[in-house]
Amino acid sequence: MSTVKGLHGARGFISFEGIEGCGKTTQVNLLSDYLKAKGHNVLATEEPGGTKIGLKIRTVLLEPENHMDPLTELLLYNASRAQHIREVIYPALMQNTIVITDRFMDSTSAYQGYARGLDLSVINTLNELVASDLKPFLTFLLDMDVEEGLTRNKKAQKTDRLELETVEFHKRVRDGYFQIAKESPERIKIIDAGGSVQEVHKKIVEALEALWP
Ligand code: TMP
Repeated sequence: MSTVKGLHGARGFISFEGIEGCGKTTQVNLLSDYLKAKGHNVLATEEPGGTKIGLKIRTVLLEPENHMDPLTELLLYNASRAQHIREVIYPALMQNTIVITDRFMDSTSAYQGYARGLDLSVINTLNELVASDLKPFLTFLLDMDVEEGLTRNKKAQKTDRLELETVEFHKRVRDGYFQIAKESPERIKIIDAGGSVQEVHKKIVEALEALWP
């Protein structure tokens, strides 16, 4: 299947976004468990990755020794997403499963666009090709101080190729996310990720329940 149609704003599709060390993965898992306990079918997944091919692409993208051209980087993130959508996300949504993804298209705009400096119109064109009209219904942007996030990751011994970028790069990622959120205020909810894990989870559940009473 090469086209994905008719799922614009699919109500079961949620993404999490944010800078390094903001705690997305923990919050994806907590929200997934919360919704499962309420009786929903939920699939928690991630980008880059989410499929066997995607995981191989993830390794290529994140190995620190791979000196990669920015265009190669952009295309590999999109290649992983094309496979992820067609093999996992779209079929799950068609079965009425709630899909929660740890990163999606906004990561590409923030990292490859705002931080790496690639042309945003090229990024948008590629996104149309890869995702067609598939967009998350809701995106949680977990926000925190850049230095704090990077320190958290170092403590967790996470040092992949992107994490090794300069603090300035990661500040551009954060500013990029704010710009993206400003352009889509209905879809993107900014959550202060500075509190405890449970405090952040509570804010996420409250925001979700305001939309899904
Ligand atoms: P993760 O460690 O949060 O799973 O993300 C892997 C890295 O890939 C992270 O540094 C963000 C980066 N990334 C991009 O640069 N562009 C993208 O489109 C995606 C999905 C991730």
